[in-house]
Amino acid sequence: MANYPELAGRTALITGAAQGIGAETARLFAAQGCKVAVVDIDADNGNKVAAGISGNGGTAQVFKTDITDAALVEQAIAGIVQAFGGIDIVINCAGGYQQLATVEDMTIEEWDRTVALNLRSVFLICKMAIPHLKKSGAGRIINVSSISGRTVHAASSPAYGAAKAGVTQLTRFLAYQLGPDNITANAIAPITTLTPRVAALRTEADIERIASQVPLRRLAVPEDHAQAMLFLASDAAAYINGVVLDVNGGRVMM
Ligand SMILES: NC(=O)c1ccc[n+]([C@@H]2O[C@H](COP(=O)([O-])OP(=O)(O)OC[C@H]3O[C@@H](n4cnc5c(N)ncnc54)[C@H](O)[C@@H]3O)[C@@H](O)[C@H]2O)c1
Repeated sequence: MANYPELAGRTALITGAAQGIGAETARLFAAQGCKVAVVDIDADNGNKVAAGISGNGGTAQVFKTDITDAALVEQAIAGIVQAFGGIDIVINCAGGYQQLATVEDMTIEEWDRTVALNLRSVFLICKMAIPHLKKSGAGRIINVSSISGRTVHAASSPAYGAAKAGVTQLTRFLAYQLGPDNITANAIAPITTLTPRVAALRTEADIERIASQVPLRRLAVPEDHAQAMLFLASDAAAYINGVVLDVNGGRVMM
């Protein structure tokens, strides 16, 4: 595993860190010596992730938050700053959707819920974390978009794809506006990833079919994304700003 000693002692706020890509990201950042704020609506799984990190000698604390709720986000940010003394790295990882539907058939509730979870949350977390990132000296924002925000394909949701495309454009505004404060903002665009949730939903045949469409002939695993985010958070990526890193095995070209 790559080693980034400069990350030791920095505080990383990670949304959606109770499971999946966010949980693996929390573990990898903690292994580099970061203090990790697990920001998730699911405190039970969040506590398991934090306990695993503490058991390995790392530092993590759960901040139970609905990240679509401005007042709760404000409370969480205040709690993190009180507990860890500041915020250096923000990783907006929570996201997803509940229904596959055409625009014509999509309920307004599903549209609003999906855009709130995938886009409004990123705005809220960034807006409230920015004053603290400005004090960091090496602030980093990493937003988890999706290949669904880069290309149109049948197995995705229009609300999700539109929100994830919004995340990449919001990332560019953040990169532009915060550059003078030495804060970089970048996004990653994952493809279908073998998290425990996805593995439980997909058949072997599904997985083989999706893998056959990827030049690297496999699905992503959470560590693929966590490693990319470690790099973007590191000093090695200090001059990378406003990019979308396609962590999708080359699928975006197809
Ligand atoms: N897994 C994939 O195949 C895949 C592919 C492309 C992009 N992505 C993106 O990667 C990110 C992580 O995906 P994943 O599959 O690991 O996610 P996941 O569904 O496994 O986990 C999402 C986490 O977000 C939390 N969460 C949900 N709503 C919340 C809310 N309102 N407030 C706070 N926390 C909330 C959940 O409790 C959960 O811990 C998402 O943004 C997703 O869109 C995932």
